Amino acid sequence: MEKAKQLYEGKAKKVYATEDDNYVIVSYKDDATAFDGTKKGTIAGKGVVNNRMSNFLMQILEKEGVPTHFVEEINDRETVVKKVSIVPLEVIIRNVSAGSFAKRYGVEEGIVFDAPTIEFSYKNDDLHDPLINDYHAMALKLATAEEIEQIKAMAFKVNDVLKAYFLKLGVKLIDFKLEFGKTSDGAIVLADEISPDTCRFWDAETNEKLDKDRFRRDMGGVEDAYKEMMHRVFGE
Ligand code: TMP
Ligand code: ASP
Repeated sequence: MEKAKQLYEGKAKKVYATEDDNYVIVSYKDDATAFDGTKKGTIAGKGVVNNRMSNFLMQILEKEGVPTHFVEEINDRETVVKKVSIVPLEVIIRNVSAGSFAKRYGVEEGIVFDAPTIEFSYKNDDLHDPLINDYHAMALKLATAEEIEQIKAMAFKVNDVLKAYFLKLGVKLIDFKLEFGKTSDGAIVLADEISPDTCRFWDAETNEKLDKDRFRRDMGGVEDAYKEMMHRVFGE
């Protein structure tokens, strides 16, 4: 499949039309932003890591019965995916306290939860992606009750599969953000990406951060963290 007109440019990816209206091509950039786009930078090689890792994880998830937008990897940075309309909710699952959870509730990072948590943010740049609950999402007609139930079940399933997968690689899956999309026939599928941009990964032995928090927090070693995750997943 060939890239046609560019449809959209986001913070980390570009999206192109193809000759088939059911598919688009995503192209992963090395650009990184944080804190609502106020912090900007580049992480060399990030686009390759995120494209390849996300595609690999989505294929694992498909095998475990989670439908995704993944169709075909074209090259290191570009992938054909199903064209979907994104449900404007960021779905966040947490296994361990970190980030905004630790800040909001005034607790330290690293508290292991008895059961994973789920929360939603309303994807809306003008409003800075506010937290939202199921009822508010339904009131705003962002999704139906049935879709929200489906999204929750899929998100917890993704957590079960990926938590076990990463632990075998010596990585703790602390938390992550998912986005879901609706295909032309109305099916809900996992969309966007699963990568060190959208997950917190801590080394299982040392708790060393192996994700975008190194960029968000100016910790240094950002590229090396992405490379290390690539190494754990692909042995490269
Ligand atoms: P948080 O602790 O800042 O709410 O982040 C929770 C998880 O969601 C973390 O793994 C990073 C990811 N995330 C994104 O992918 N995009 C975002 O815009 C934000 C705020 C978080
Ligand atoms: N990329 C997101 C932004 O710029 C935030 C993040 O991942 O921390 O808003």
